[in-house]
Amino acid sequence: MPSAPFYEIKETLLSVQGVSKSLGGRLILRDVNVEIKNIIRPGLKQGQVVGFLGPSGMGKTTLFRLIAGIEDPDQGVIHIGADQRPVQKGQVGVVPQSYPLFNHRNVMSNLLVAGKQIGLAGSELTDKAEGYLKRFGLEGEAEKYPMQLSGGQRQRVAIAQQFMCSEHLVLMDEPFSGLDVNAIKAVTDLICEVASEHEDMSLVLVTHDISSAIEVSDTLWILGRDRDDSDKPIPGARIVKKYDLIELGIAWTKGNADLPEFVQLEREIKGLFPKL
Ligand SMILES: Nc1ncnc2c1ncn2[C@@H]1O[C@H](COP(=O)(O)OP(=O)(O)OP(=O)(O)O)[C@@H](O)[C@H]1O
Ligand SMILES: [Mg+2]
Repeated sequence: MPSAPFYEIKETLLSVQGVSKSLGGRLILRDVNVEIKNIIRPGLKQGQVVGFLGPSGMGKTTLFRLIAGIEDPDQGVIHIGADQRPVQKGQVGVVPQSYPLFNHRNVMSNLLVAGKQIGLAGSELTDKAEGYLKRFGLEGEAEKYPMQLSGGQRQRVAIAQQFMCSEHLVLMDEPFSGLDVNAIKAVTDLICEVASEHEDMSLVLVTHDISSAIEVSDTLWILGRDRDDSDKPIPGARIVKKYDLIELGIAWTKGNADLPEFVQLEREIKGLFPKL
């Protein structure tokens, strides 16, 4: 087994405490508890990539909306930042399943509008936008409108837009869905690259794509339901398992999908899914 690299665990960045949520009279989330801590690698830049995995319909987008402050939990609290303040809408970057962009604005203008939201102006604003266009391979698309982009390009603009206006925490809902293998590779590379360039950046993904989630995450939380004595699922998803991919020697390793530890974990989670 590969040995875990040296790292230090620091302050809490996101905490979800005792969160429950019902929708349409059905309990969707039941007493969800999560704590995401800042992890430092001395001498290296490293942000957090945290994945929430669960089968379709389990409540991932519901949890995503609560963490983003778009909706309030029925019970429990969500705190963000080193000062652990209650989350409010607009404080965290959000890349929803559908990558909404301003269709009447071109790519550059979409980024500039986002940066202005947090008070950036002048060359600081344009330098930052140009930096993201370059990093995301979108330099040639700056003048294009969203309708003129491919799905993968639109997604990269949507992610770049969120990085423009929220430096520290960006949530992504199903960042790999509807993409072909090349585009999935581009997104996983992008996520790993962003996390390894910004130590104060935390990316939180919710997805049902087991292998992509293992590829990019340093911690995985599995959403699922407990079973009663007659093996019927008890309503309301909870965190049923947490995997520390750093300790498993999978995180922060390029080409980790070839590691036996990766294959073993993928098999384990795949086996878990039908029982959730
Ligand atoms: N507004 C709503 N009113 C009633 N039920 C809802 C509402 N939104 C979602 N649900 C239900 O809540 C459950 C969880 O939905 P959610 O969208 O969070 O699942 P998900 O894990 O994100 O699924 P997927 O992987 O397909 O995106 C589903 O059973 C869904 O039907
Ligand atoms: Mg969803």
